[in-house]
Amino acid sequence: MAQRLPILYQKKPCYDIVFSHDFDGLCEELSELEFGGQKGITDRRICIVTDSNVEKLYGEQVKGLLAAQCKKAVLFAFPAGEASKNLDTVKSLYTFLIEEQFDRKDILVALGGGVVGDLTGFTSATYLRGIDFIQIPTTLLAQVDSSIGGKTGVDFDRYKNMVGAFYMPRLVYMNLSVLKSLDDRQYYSGMAEVMKYGLLRDANFYEWLIENMYEICERDAEILEEMVLRSCTNKKIIVEKDPTEKGDRALLNLGHTIGHAIEKAKNFEMLHGECVALGCVAAAYISWKKQLLSMDEYYEIRDMFVPFNLPISVEGIDPEEIVTLTKSDKKMAAGQIRFILLKKVGKATINTTVTEEEMLAAVKEIYFSEDDKKE
Ligand code: GLY
Repeated sequence: MAQRLPILYQKKPCYDIVFSHDFDGLCEELSELEFGGQKGITDRRICIVTDSNVEKLYGEQVKGLLAAQCKKAVLFAFPAGEASKNLDTVKSLYTFLIEEQFDRKDILVALGGGVVGDLTGFTSATYLRGIDFIQIPTTLLAQVDSSIGGKTGVDFDRYKNMVGAFYMPRLVYMNLSVLKSLDDRQYYSGMAEVMKYGLLRDANFYEWLIENMYEICERDAEILEEMVLRSCTNKKIIVEKDPTEKGDRALLNLGHTIGHAIEKAKNFEMLHGECVALGCVAAAYISWKKQLLSMDEYYEIRDMFVPFNLPISVEGIDPEEIVTLTKSDKKMAAGQIRFILLKKVGKATINTTVTEEEMLAAVKEIYFSEDDKKE
């Protein structure tokens, strides 16, 4: 029996997260929802949006399931990777939808990781001023974070997620068995977002992650289910309280200010979660230097990323450039940078006093240079 976590928006039931172990229950879930004033999908066209990697794995399977129940199922796949997360891909998708005569009652299905989910959500928010969409996240990162909470968008020039909208899916359907087929790098990248929940608001969960480290790395099915469910519950609590990031939702950006800058500087060769792990280490370092954390706490937090195969240092960057990149984000946000620091494991805080010098020192702390190699 699939587990279910309802998400409220402005205190009203909005959509369910369904935790399953296959795709088989998808059509039944959709048949219970109303689209364009009518129950079910029998008279609806569905466009599955995916990337070139996920298409090969699950594209035909999901299309086959939906095609058997809906009016017409079509598939739109774009090249996998962050480089596709832009308005050009959105434009191609608009053109495809127009050619396929999609109207406001039809449905988009985001089948894939964070890039697919964010881009499909944004297209859904804007095509014909908004059509329904469903999230089927297929990476750990998308399951525990990006598919929940209605953040949609694409990158613009060098700016990550600069164009977007808050737009809620009608359903988030998770097939947890897909986590088994992720390559190690993708899997552990998602672990950074999982650990983030422990660090920022759930010390018990953080302890649980440490206690179950072996099973997590082995991808034990029961442990994975509990881990994803507890992560989603943490995200639910935050996004229900602050759906449009007026306040505490910003805590979810722990590790992201410096993380995003490294992601950009590295030309997206490192995965998002790898950069978030580095960003969390840098944030913990600043927290120590600002005497919010003790030195021991800093090193414990830093070292806990290692067993989950996440980096705690990075080479081939210019620390000054990283700080500049964080500033360009700040400038575009037209305000003081809202840096997320840690008071202890399980307690994050928004801080607006972090200086460029403090950021530079933190980036130098995680920077592994050619000289370090010689020592
Ligand atoms: N991924 C951060 C958020 O949903 O707010």
